[in-house]
Amino acid sequence: MRPKVSIIGAGNVGAACAMDIARHGYADVVLMDIVEGLAQGKALDILQSGPLHGSDAYLIGTTNYEDTADSRIVVVTSGVARKPGMSRDDLVLTNRDIVREVVRQVVTLSPRCILLAVTNPLDAMAYLAFKVSGFPRERVVGMSGILDSTRFRTFIARELGVSVDDITAFILGGHGDTMVPIPRFSTVSGMPITQLLSEDTIERLVNRTIQGGGEIVELLKAGSAYQAPGAAVAQMVEAILLDRKRVLPCSVYLDGEYGLRDVFLGVPVRLGSDGMEKVFEVALSPKEKAALERSAQAVRELIKVMKL
Ligand code: NAI
Ligand code: 2OP
Repeated sequence: MRPKVSIIGAGNVGAACAMDIARHGYADVVLMDIVEGLAQGKALDILQSGPLHGSDAYLIGTTNYEDTADSRIVVVTSGVARKPGMSRDDLVLTNRDIVREVVRQVVTLSPRCILLAVTNPLDAMAYLAFKVSGFPRERVVGMSGILDSTRFRTFIARELGVSVDDITAFILGGHGDTMVPIPRFSTVSGMPITQLLSEDTIERLVNRTIQGGGEIVELLKAGSAYQAPGAAVAQMVEAILLDRKRVLPCSVYLDGEYGLRDVFLGVPVRLGSDGMEKVFEVALSPKEKAALERSAQAVRELIKVMKL
């Protein structure tokens, strides 16, 4: 039997994630939404692509939480997305109410699942999911750093004219304007980009990465990025279901690591069958540390706004 992955919110990101998981065929997917027919239609469409991809994964769409029971992983993508001129933080109160209700429902039916938070503002919503679920921190993980670092990797690869496969990018902090890309730990086949690109070029790529989500919102006008985000969540799902022990930047509850407590923030972690199995700590320069603390402060302010 394939494990069950439920995705709550059959919008753009939820559907892109479902498509990626289904194509790889390592899980069956339950797509759930409050809009009647939306999840059902998208699930059926994705199911019918199975023969083209050689995938036997089974998908259903539903408006009924009961169908998500006994999920191995629940992905929370329900909520509203940004429109031009809005920051991720503008979404906080609307999405707080949605995510709180969704998490309450899913953890009752899947008490042993691993929760992957996606809804924005990401770090605050992951914190909310952690508090509402009562799960240990290993089983509540937010997706953000994979997306941010994949954007940075793309820009570095294009700048140097090399394959994206050979680029690693290191980003810490919250999923927002205070994220902390660290060029000296970002490499091309092991060579730090600080030895391959000028400071000005790196600064340009870093700024484009920080604005990466906003750049797409301005172009799309209605909604935000979803293809790369959906694939980023699917990478986390795969790492957990196949116990790959991938080391990926994810938003997790910090309990003293990097000198920070009681906040969700992006750091490198090991993802495997137990969820977030380990936080990796690296020595930061005073400037990097100060930037990370600023990022934590921004998340804390949002947590305060949520009045949990
Ligand atoms: P979307 O608007 O296309 O989809 C959201 C879906 O959630 C809609 O279909 C809506 O009907 C559904 N929904 C709302 N309330 C619900 C409830 N109570 N139960 C079940 N479903 C409910 O938005 P999109 O583009 O899919 O983005 C979803 C969220 O993910 C947004 O908050 C967005 O900002 C965030 N996001 C986060 C990223 C990250 O890196 N963490 C990347 C991209 C998006
Ligand atoms: C992004 O970075 C909207 O958070 C989403 O594209």
